Amino acid sequence: MSSDQPKKEISAIKGTHDILPEEARLWQLAEARAREIFELYGYRELRAPVIEPTELFEKGTGASSDIVTKEMYTFVDKGGRSVTLRPEYTPSVVRAIIEHRLDLQSQPLRYYYMGPMFRYDRPQKGRYRQFHQIDIEVFGEKDPAVDAEIVEMAHRLLARLGVEDVLTLVNSVGCKKCRPAYGQELRQAALAARDKLCPDCQRKAEVNPLRIFDCKNEVCRQVASGFPLIIDFLCAECRDHFHKFREYLDLYGIEYRVEPTLVRGLDYYTKTAFEIVAEHLGAQNAICGGGRYDDMVREFGGPDLCGIGFAMGLERLLSVARIQVPKDSFVYFAYLGDQAKKESLRLARVLRSEGIECLVEFRDRGMKAHFSRANKLGADWVLIIGEDELKKGKYQLKDMVNSRQFEGSALELAGIIKGKKILEIG
Ligand code: HAM
Repeated sequence: MSSDQPKKEISAIKGTHDILPEEARLWQLAEARAREIFELYGYRELRAPVIEPTELFEKGTGASSDIVTKEMYTFVDKGGRSVTLRPEYTPSVVRAIIEHRLDLQSQPLRYYYMGPMFRYDRPQKGRYRQFHQIDIEVFGEKDPAVDAEIVEMAHRLLARLGVEDVLTLVNSVGCKKCRPAYGQELRQAALAARDKLCPDCQRKAEVNPLRIFDCKNEVCRQVASGFPLIIDFLCAECRDHFHKFREYLDLYGIEYRVEPTLVRGLDYYTKTAFEIVAEHLGAQNAICGGGRYDDMVREFGGPDLCGIGFAMGLERLLSVARIQVPKDSFVYFAYLGDQAKKESLRLARVLRSEGIECLVEFRDRGMKAHFSRANKLGADWVLIIGEDELKKGKYQLKDMVNSRQFEGSALELAGIIKGKKILEIG
């Protein structure tokens, strides 16, 4: 290529985003609050790889789900293996449990994780190709009390993030015992109405008619509103589980709405399914989705270990969160001359060891220029080192927020900055 050709800019891949430092502060805060809350309930972090064998999701997420049929980032690696950038986290945790025999530990097992997921969907507001989930999973607890506890925990996190105006939708999608009879009835109804459905739902009518309820097409929604509902087909066990789940939600004082067409877009759910939506978010308004999956571990060849969990989309969460990041507090070094520069570098080491953020810039400046730079950067403190200070071994510290000035040794000033000791001189 000739060197005078205009250079083509390389930009981020469609549907992916950079999170720049100012915004990253919000992410850190939200993640820290999530971590804090999950640990309060006994959850511990489990980190799994971003790439997994493709069959993990084909089998776990489900062969008929939109995710597997249309949205996976799948490729063949140099070793000829088909690998996939995880579109969700749940199957990875199940794999890790079986691989590391975590089921041998005392149950229930409670895990959480935060990280990127990948789905090749049409990007739009609230829907990205690389997005981030906060995910929690519990294994080995059949009691519907845990179903309600995770919903309550999700609400606690939302409250902590200042998220308001949410609606919690709950349903039961039955189990292996009661779903087949329902599936038959539903398929019959779907096939009878086939001509009215969109091409995608015509296919779903054959392979998995439950998925028709997920369709956003208005005509399909209209048709589906006349379909039989799973709730009327639940076996005694599922009915009882759903009843108790709702009783526990009432106990926690959580408002919810039973949404009989809520089936969720993944194949593995059994019994409880739920979503939390932020009503004002528009089309992509689900900020949290989850449910029970009592068969997945066994279907992967593991022990008979039931599971339940949820995932929140961090991008959507942050778009409705009302949190304020505390301002960064740091010391700017205003020095004059080479000796004072060296002393600044030495002092910064001392202060950093005391846990104080320091900024020493290397460009030569006069005192006035130092102060205007410190102001521009928003420094809370300016440490002044000129000839006098060097001689005395005591430094001037200017509190930029309260316009006070102090004098002291490095450690005395560290004490002041940390709010321990005040030695005001002016
Ligand atoms: P999901 O409903 O597919 O469930 O995703 C959970 C949440 O991730 C959604 O409610 C949404 O906030 C966010 N999300 C999903 N796709 C996108 C996207 N393309 N762009 C931005 N945000 C998105 C699961 O993933 C299950 N693994 C949840 C679960 C855990 N069930 C049991 N355990």
